[in-house]
Parts: sequence; C-alpha cells; structure tokens
Amino acid sequence: MKLKSILLSAAACVAMLTSGLAFASGGGMVFKHADTDVTSQAQLLRGLTVFTDTCMGCHSAKYITYKGLMDYPELGISRAMADEFRGDNALSSGLHTELAPEDAVESYGKVPPDLSLVVPGRRGGVDYIYSLLTGYAHDESGRVDDGNYNTYFPGNRTAMPDPLGWLDHDAEDTAELEQQAHDVSAFLEFIADPHQNTRRDLGVYVMGFLLLLTLVLFLLKREVWKDVH
Ligand code: HEC
Repeated sequence: MKLKSILLSAAACVAMLTSGLAFASGGGMVFKHADTDVTSQAQLLRGLTVFTDTCMGCHSAKYITYKGLMDYPELGISRAMADEFRGDNALSSGLHTELAPEDAVESYGKVPPDLSLVVPGRRGGVDYIYSLLTGYAHDESGRVDDGNYNTYFPGNRTAMPDPLGWLDHDAEDTAELEQQAHDVSAFLEFIADPHQNTRRDLGVYVMGFLLLLTLVLFLLKREVWKDVH
C-alpha cells in the first residue's frame, strides 16, 4: 500500500514536470525543429552571411561588434573578413542596420527589433525563429495580405515582409531556403550567448574532475579505514 502511494506520487511529479516543460516550449504552438549546430563553423559563417546580406537591411544586432566577430573561435573570422563585413564602420561598432527608424515606421509601420537577444527573448526560442522564417503562407480567410500572413507569428499578422522569399517559392528552391533559415537561426542562437560552447566544454571538464576526485577520496577512505573493523 505504502509502495503504491509512493509510486503514485512519483508519477504525479513526472506528469507535473513534463506538462510544465511542454508549456515552456511554446504554449501550445508546435514549432518546426530549427536543427542548428552552434559548434559548426560552416553553419555559423553561412548564417552570418545571410544575416549581413538580408536581415541587416532592416535589423541590427547591436550587442555584437565587428571586433567581437573576430574574437569567437567558433566563427573563425579573420581581420580581412571583418574589414569586408564592416565597410566604413568602426571595428568596435555593433552590427547596425542602415535603415533609419523613421523610414522603417513609414515602410513597415514599426521599427524591426534588434536581433542580438531575440532567441532567448521569444517563446519557442530558435525553433520559433526558424518556423517564422519558413512560416509565410496564404491566409485561408483572406483577411491578411500575402507576405504579412505567417503561421507562427503571434496573431498571424506580421509587419515583416517575407525576408527569404518563402511564400510561393519554386519547389526546387525549398532546400536552399530551408538551409538559409537553419543557418541564420544558428547564427542568432550563437550571438545571443556566444560563450555557450566554452561553458559546455568547461562543464564536461568539471564533471570529469569531480568524478576523479570522488574516486581518489573513495580509495583514500578505504586506505584510512582498512584496519578498523
Ligand atoms: C524588409 C525589412 C526586414 C527584413 C529584411 C527582415 N526583417 Fe525581421 N522584422 C521586420 C519587421 C518590420 C519586424 C516586426 C514585425 C512585427 O512585430 O510585426 C521584424 C521582426 C522580426 C523578428 C521578431 C518576431 C517577433 O516575434 O517579434 C525576427 C526574429 C526577425 N524579424 C528575424 C529576421 C531575420 C532572421 C531576417 C533575415 C533573414 C529578417 N528578420 C529580415 C522587418 C524585416
């Protein structure tokens, strides 16, 4: 009887935990999987290119500087590459769009948000970003114009005009557009927390060290107590 009630409480705990997780990961909305690898230099570099070529037409990532781009081994950016990206901007400057806020308001009705911290700042995180970029569709009800209707944007009406040209793209371009969306999502995931890889590696060393320490202490304890019966 006692065992049964313990098992029941354990099951209740697991159920509560998992329902909490489901809520945290999107509040009911199921996102596509962003499938990013923030340790892949190739993916991050492709993502950076999509970001500077396309997204920076409207968005900034002001907390990342051109110099910062060179500092992260994951990106492997040389000084020459940073110079190419920055043009006339100072090395210490953040990645600022040239779109003036008042022009943005005139064209899109609002100022596009800074993307430095958008991944942790949105429910669904990086999966949401990937889904948003590949989520433009026709509004079945006909209320929202093409190019503003997005399956994943809260309320489905977004002021961002389909940046990758997802709506009505040719079938043979699907893989290429998905790749761009994966890559730029990875880049945004990386810049929101550029030390995540270092931290993860350090965590592995710390765990290894603790295991070793436990073993040494265990052997030491056995040695010290060996004559006590
Ligand atoms: C032509 C201008 C333009 C371009 C180019 C553009 N965006 Fe946007 N973006 C916007 C605007 C405007 C908004 C605000 C949308 C809203 O709140 O309705 C926005 C919002 C966003 C958001 C926030 C959505 C939210 O939940 O609030 C993300 C993420 C985003 N854009 C990512 C990107 C990425 C990644 C690219 C490049 C592939 C890109 N954008 C290119 C104009 C643009």
